Amino acid sequence: MQPASLMPLHILLLLPLITQAQVIQNILVAGSKPPAGFKFQLGTWFNDPETTQSWNAKFGRKFPTFQAAQSIPYGVNGSLVILDPDMSYQSRYLDNVAGWQDGTDASVFMTIYADRMVSNGSQGLDLVSADAITHLATRLNQITQTTGRKVMMRWLPEMNGDWMLYGKQAAAYVEKWKLMYNIFNVTAPNVQIVWSPNFDLQPGDTSYWPGPEYVHMVGTSSYFKGWGTNSNASVNYVASAISTVYNEYARKYNKPFVISECSGAWESGPGRSPVTGETFTNVTSLDTQPEFQQAFWAGILNPAFFAAFPLTQAAYIFEIAKQEEFFTDFRLTNDSATFAAFQALVNSVDSQGYLVWANDGSSTSSTTTTTSTTTASTFATTAISAAITPSASPTKSGARTSFAASVFSIFSFLFF
Ligand SMILES: *[C@@H]1O[C@H](CO)[C@@H](O)[C@H](O)[C@H]1NC(C)=O
Ligand SMILES: *[C@@H]1O[C@H](CO)[C@@H](O)[C@H](O)[C@H]1NC(C)=O
Ligand SMILES: *[C@@H]1O[C@H](CO)[C@@H](O)[C@H](O)[C@H]1NC(C)=O
Ligand SMILES: *[C@@H]1O[C@H](CO)[C@@H](O)[C@H](O)[C@H]1NC(C)=O
Ligand SMILES: *[C@@H]1O[C@H](CO)[C@@H](O)[C@H](O)[C@H]1NC(C)=O
Ligand SMILES: *[C@@H]1O[C@H](CO)[C@@H](O)[C@H](O)[C@H]1NC(C)=O
Repeated sequence: MQPASLMPLHILLLLPLITQAQVIQNILVAGSKPPAGFKFQLGTWFNDPETTQSWNAKFGRKFPTFQAAQSIPYGVNGSLVILDPDMSYQSRYLDNVAGWQDGTDASVFMTIYADRMVSNGSQGLDLVSADAITHLATRLNQITQTTGRKVMMRWLPEMNGDWMLYGKQAAAYVEKWKLMYNIFNVTAPNVQIVWSPNFDLQPGDTSYWPGPEYVHMVGTSSYFKGWGTNSNASVNYVASAISTVYNEYARKYNKPFVISECSGAWESGPGRSPVTGETFTNVTSLDTQPEFQQAFWAGILNPAFFAAFPLTQAAYIFEIAKQEEFFTDFRLTNDSATFAAFQALVNSVDSQGYLVWANDGSSTSSTTTTTSTTTASTFATTAISAAITPSASPTKSGARTSFAASVFSIFSFLFF
């Protein structure tokens, strides 16, 4: 068994636990429709032992995009930096894209965390050397070459939060970003680079932005938490949460946009609210789990959302359950009634023609590309052209001018 420090990082531990109570703006206009030709991709990020193949089988759909994660450098062992995975044990993990057996052309959304620390205390951004970046770029380029899959790379996300080793270091972050970009530009020119702060980036704070010439796509994370009470999110919850990042970066620079990770946080059991400090012997539920998840996701899988945010091309389900302040289940497929409610929502937008699914393809063969207008690879183009003439603009009226509470929850970092 390999040392824990060599294990691929586990997404279980990487959820942003920061949240800010926000003013919910009335952004979505009921009945509005996105520009003609708008298409949306539903992606997912699950934990072992789920596979892309088992996920698709469970859903009865060919998901068009999957999220995986790696660290940079890939691993550490004491004082040693390990630049590439050892395929003899890495093959079972989601981040080994060559091993995906879904038989489709689904794209790869690869999240990269600078979350390593070596025994001399060097950590985070300090370990992101040109050499480590070149190894990563070479690996990701190889995926595009050998599988034909489109690869997006979400580089060091949620950098505006303090739960990442590289968080809250804007100048160093931007400098490292440019180094990364220049290496990828030569070594992995087909990889789409995604800039993805947490949703609560302050309006006007451009300190983490490397500049439009260094970014291909913009994304953000969005979760809904009740802190001891499960009740429906407003249909405008996600729209409000993403609006700063969307408007100030994606819209301003006309970049494709993704909701990089999201779901409703269904809580249970005892816990403590980081907002009020109140302890609960049990969570109170004003709505059922299927209603709760349906309400959250209706804020995204909704023509009015597509109309308001036409640069959006995908949202990634965070299909994980974990102990946080409460036991928190973000999953949509574990509970059968919740899964049924979610599928009903998916079927509804799909029947209106908004969703795009993967095509058959070989996960191990060559560089075959397809000319279908609904493939992952042409999708960004659709989103861009759709965005040039948006039919509805996100309204800034009632803009977030105050925060009822600013909440920083405790994240205990675990190092493998
Ligand atoms: C990690 O380093 C130790 C020596 O410090 C070595 O014995 C061990 O084999 C290394 N593990 C791997 C997987 O390389
Ligand atoms: C700590 O170790 C890393 C990785 O081996 C190395 O790059 C760095 O220079 C070391 N730092 C110091 C202060 O020795
Ligand atoms: C690589 O950099 C050049 C020069 O800045 C730019 O024109 C080109 O679009 C870049 N390629 C990619 C894939 O970003
Ligand atoms: C907590 O609430 C849930 C849902 O109402 C219930 O099933 C469970 O039995 C409760 N647990 C305790 C310890 O009261
Ligand atoms: C919660 O959301 C669900 C799904 O949208 C809905 O059916 C239910 O009526 C909502 N509950 C309340 C109290 O509004
Ligand atoms: C639901 O998740 C629990 C663990 O949280 C697991 O034990 C159970 O098997 C799962 N059920 C299904 C149907 O996947």
